[in-house]
Amino acid sequence: MHKKELDTTLVLIKPDALKNSLTGYILSQLSEFNTGLRFAGMKVVQVNRILAEEHYAEHRGKVFYPPLIDYIMGLAHYPNTPDRRRVIAIVYQGPNAVPKIRQIVGSTDPHCAREGQPGSIRALGMIVHLRNEKGEVIGQRMDNLIHASANAADAEREIKLWFKPNDIPPRLHPFPTRQSEKHYYYKVKRLFTCYEPESVCIFAPGDEAWESDLDVLEKIDRGKKPAYPLETVVAKYLSNEARGMNL
Ligand code: GTP
Ligand code: MG
Repeated sequence: MHKKELDTTLVLIKPDALKNSLTGYILSQLSEFNTGLRFAGMKVVQVNRILAEEHYAEHRGKVFYPPLIDYIMGLAHYPNTPDRRRVIAIVYQGPNAVPKIRQIVGSTDPHCAREGQPGSIRALGMIVHLRNEKGEVIGQRMDNLIHASANAADAEREIKLWFKPNDIPPRLHPFPTRQSEKHYYYKVKRLFTCYEPESVCIFAPGDEAWESDLDVLEKIDRGKKPAYPLETVVAKYLSNEARGMNL
């Protein structure tokens, strides 16, 4: 049922946008009337560490990576109210979805967005100076309100990272799916095909999965190198799960 001809992209409305009640504004900017794009999926996610680290895997090791993880997990904006730590994840579909949304979103750095593209969404963001206990500036965080996939390959990786096939109506599935033939369980960075105490069941036989996710699990099960990490498959099955929140 997947439609290869339909461009698809992932948008995340980040915790600073939620805190500042900018969700409605952002949805209006990205409306079908303004962009010609349609919703294919939408969910509220409490982002656990596995999902945060997989989403921003390309930035691992950079100086701004730790504050970036705290930011997307909602720890920076809601340090004392864990229930408010949320991100709204949206899949948009339609012609040129990736560049159309990146254009409205604007530059990564809110100062550049304000100077170069006033009116873009990120022009409303801010740069936060991070300080140590003595009050000295030790780094910065770019609170830029929104994430948008940078290209088609990133969009595919990110949509499969955040969304289960069942989060998207079958006729709008942008990528191939198939049914699992086995049970798969996850526990502390390991995959099992038989029940392990304190493991989380990721798939039972008959469950619909992204085809590439099942390819990854099958390779790991056979001791071969998968196309992407186990955590990329399991993150979406552990977020919004009481048992997955502390992972
Ligand atoms: P996303 O849509 O969030 O992925 O942003 P992007 O694709 O425009 O930028 P990129 O993927 O390069 O960076 C991811 C996030 O890291 C950004 O949204 C910023 O919050 C943060 N970031 C990127 N570059 C810098 C930097 O040089 N300094 C700091 N402090 N943060 C950065
Ligand atoms: Mg990016």
